[in-house]
This record gives sequence, C-alpha cells and structure tokens, in this order.
Amino acid sequence: MLLQDKVGLVTGGGSGIGRATALTFARDGARVAVVDYHLETAQETADMIRQAGGEAIAVRANVAQPVEVEAMVEQTMAAFGRLDCACNNAAFGGGFAPLTDVEEKSWQLAQDVTLKGVWLCMKYQVPQMLTQGRGAIVNIASLSGVRGEALQAPYSAAKGGVLALTRTAAAEYAQRGVRINAVNPGGIRTPAILNYFAQVPGAEERTAATHAMRRLGEPEEVADAVAYLCSDRATFITGTTLDVDGGIMVNPHTL
Ligand SMILES: NC(=O)c1ccc[n+]([C@@H]2O[C@H](COP(=O)([O-])OP(=O)(O)OC[C@H]3O[C@@H](n4cnc5c(N)ncnc54)[C@H](O)[C@@H]3O)[C@@H](O)[C@H]2O)c1
Repeated sequence: MLLQDKVGLVTGGGSGIGRATALTFARDGARVAVVDYHLETAQETADMIRQAGGEAIAVRANVAQPVEVEAMVEQTMAAFGRLDCACNNAAFGGGFAPLTDVEEKSWQLAQDVTLKGVWLCMKYQVPQMLTQGRGAIVNIASLSGVRGEALQAPYSAAKGGVLALTRTAAAEYAQRGVRINAVNPGGIRTPAILNYFAQVPGAEERTAATHAMRRLGEPEEVADAVAYLCSDRATFITGTTLDVDGGIMVNPHTL
C-alpha cells in the first residue's frame, strides 16, 4: 500500500496508461480523482475503482482549458480535502506527417494539450501541495521528446517541452516539499497504439523489435513506476526522468 491515506489525481484517466495509473493509485491505498476529456470513460474507471473497494470521483476537464483545470483541482479538494499525488498524463498525438506537411492547427493542438496542458495542471496543483507542505507530481513524457520521432514533429516537440518543464518545476519547488518527476514510456499496449497497429500491417512486430526486451509494455508497468515516484519511497527523487521502456534506449544487437 504505497499510497495509503493519500489523494491522487490522474488526467487522461479514462484510457490506457491513465486508467492503469488511477487503478494502481487506488490499489495502493489512495482515493482518486479520475479526470478525462470524456466523462463517460472517466466514470468507467471510477466505477472500476469502487467495484474493487476503493474511493474515486470522475471529473470532466480538458487540460488545455485553464478554467476547467482549475475546476478539476477544486472538485478534487471538495471531494477529498487534499491532493498528494498527481499524474499529468493526457496528451494529443497530432498524427503522422513530415514536418513540412504539418498543418498549423495540428501543431497548435499538440502544444495546447500535450505541453500547455501539463503546465496548466501544475499551475493549479502546486499551490495546493505547497499549502499542505508536500506533494508529488509525475508528468508523462515520451522518448520522442528525447530522441525525436520521424513524422511526429508536433508531439515530439511538445514532449521535449514536458521534460524541460518538469525539471524547471522541480527546481522551483524542491525546497518546499513538492517533488516533480517525469516518466518516459516505451511502446505501451494502450488503445492509442493498438489503433495505430490495426491500421499499419506489421507495425506491432516492428515496434516490439525496437525494445531490448523484444516486447511492448503493459499500462500497469508504467503505472507502477508512477506510483513509486509519487510515494514516500522516493522522497529524495525530484527533477528526474524514469524510462519505462523495456530497454528501448540500449542497443539490442549483440555481436
Ligand atoms: N502508449 C504508448 O506507447 C505511449 C508511449 C509514450 C508516451 N505515451 C504517453 O502516455 C500518455 C497516455 O497515452 P495512452 O497511450 O494511454 O493514450 P490513450 O489515448 O489510451 O489515453 C489518453 C487519454 O487522454 C484523454 N485526453 C486526451 N486529450 C485530453 C484533454 N485535452 N483533456 C483531458 N483528457 C484528454 C483521452 O480521452 C484518453 O482517455 C500520453 O501522454 C502519451 O503521450 C504513450
């Protein structure tokens, strides 16, 4: 029970890594605010938590909208009275295209949701954590933000921004009890990636082969890393990035 008596909040909690993180937070003892752009999917996750004996609320918010993000934190406070752990996970992929073909609208949407959304979430989460004198935030970034990703310029640029923002935020609040870290997932078996695999024959096998473990990850494997970073087992860890990637960054070839 890593998060016993804590309150957690997860954006994009209606699907994939966000849903797994919300369920893991609850299994580890936290009460959870499940936030999503789609209220129905957030409600499904909250129902799953309740059915397993936990406590959860579902909140509808678009993380790109300041008023909705502020309300998301207020609703969490109204329901649970505090906020200890936040996982800022919601993102917009932006599609696949060479950067010369990217429409300005797609570029802007990726920056608004994936990068500005993380800033807005922290803007409203951090003050509450400072009031409490403690709190932990994990932003979900991507290896695309470290090494780039062909055909994903808006997404890669936004995720690189999330990593820089995470380190900046960690530096600003390290002395006041708020730890802020990032997780870089490798290829994780979520609806987003499975939808892509369904459209591109052989893509799943090719993606799996880029990982040293020669497999994709499961959402729960990312969720466990998030729960650890949010927990009191990680009290001297801030401003870092944990790669949960089956060894995608190591060369899988052997001589
Ligand atoms: N799946 C992977 O292989 C992979 C790899 C690297 C990084 N990631 C990152 O992990 C995170 C989760 O990805 P996933 O694969 O679970 O995606 P997903 O599409 O399964 O889930 C994303 C959730 O975010 C919600 N969402 C989207 N825009 C939103 C908004 N503006 N406001 C609130 N909620 C919004 C969606 O409704 C959805 O429920 C993302 O940040 C993604 O970039 C995923």
